[in-house]
Amino acid sequence: MHAPLEGRTVGRVVESRADALPVGAVILHRQAWRTHSVVTAEGAFLLPDFAGVPLSAHLSVLGGTGLSAWVGLTRIARLQPDETIFISAAAGGVGTAAGQLARLLGAGRIIGSTGSAAKAAHLTKNLGFDAAFDYHDGPIVERLREAAPEGLHVYLDNVGGDHLEAAIDALRDHGRIAWCGAVAQYNNLQSPPPAPRNLYDVVGKSLRLEGFLVRNHLDARPELYDFLVPHLRSGAVVPDETVVDGFDHVVDAFLGMNTGKMLVRIAG
Ligand SMILES: NC(=O)c1ccc[n+]([C@@H]2O[C@H](COP(=O)([O-])OP(=O)(O)OC[C@H]3O[C@@H](n4cnc5c(N)ncnc54)[C@H](OP(=O)(O)O)[C@@H]3O)[C@@H](O)[C@H]2O)c1
Repeated sequence: MHAPLEGRTVGRVVESRADALPVGAVILHRQAWRTHSVVTAEGAFLLPDFAGVPLSAHLSVLGGTGLSAWVGLTRIARLQPDETIFISAAAGGVGTAAGQLARLLGAGRIIGSTGSAAKAAHLTKNLGFDAAFDYHDGPIVERLREAAPEGLHVYLDNVGGDHLEAAIDALRDHGRIAWCGAVAQYNNLQSPPPAPRNLYDVVGKSLRLEGFLVRNHLDARPELYDFLVPHLRSGAVVPDETVVDGFDHVVDAFLGMNTGKMLVRIAG
């Protein structure tokens, strides 16, 4: 109560009593929603300097968002070349990173769901998705059957609820679900969407459904850096970010519409 919200932030050390955090160092910490923060050395991560890569990438594709996508694809779903993957909330931070990473990992067909036709077009035109649909356009299971007539190998779930039920229906035998988030449920805690009515198909189809928290996989960060930084430097991957300028607009950004990672810039 009566404390600023938390969130990941990139900042520069302006004053220090810790040898590990010299003045001028660029660090990542979790005390967002304020212009200046007091952090401990343990609560800060000294960011590597990747020349040619924008600092903001440490909050999007190279940050917790990109790492969630990386862990979901490589460690949980173990996506293989030529496989068909469905990503929900595909125009959000995790989804846009996951789509671009899946392409680089050799996915055969990448399908995304999102909340508007404009966002769906953004996914296919700019981010390498093969197909994308607005989840308001009729039953999700029908959109998936059209987009993936041969069925899905992998589902990266950011939504839960009706999306999870439809994906279970569309998955092939031995498919994998990496469960990252349940954005359809957070604003609905009193009456969350019912569990998928077809949950038992997880048995019938020998599916694997595994949830994960990125904070338990921070050791994967060097893998992500090694894989992605060359693609960021070459321009093959451009972080998808919505940047709002000015600390006074932080609430607007929180409530606003984004594609990719929503960021607030409070210093140049
Ligand atoms: N497991 C972990 O460690 C971990 C780590 C990071 C994030 N997460 C979770 O992963 C999910 C995605 O995170 P993010 O950073 O990508 O979030 P984000 O950038 O805020 O994107 C979320 C997107 O979800 C969509 N959405 C909102 N309500 C929806 C609904 N009722 N049904 C379907 N889509 C809806 C919105 O886009 P549309 O306009 O397309 O609806 C929104 O842009 C969240 O649930 C988050 O909590 C988990």
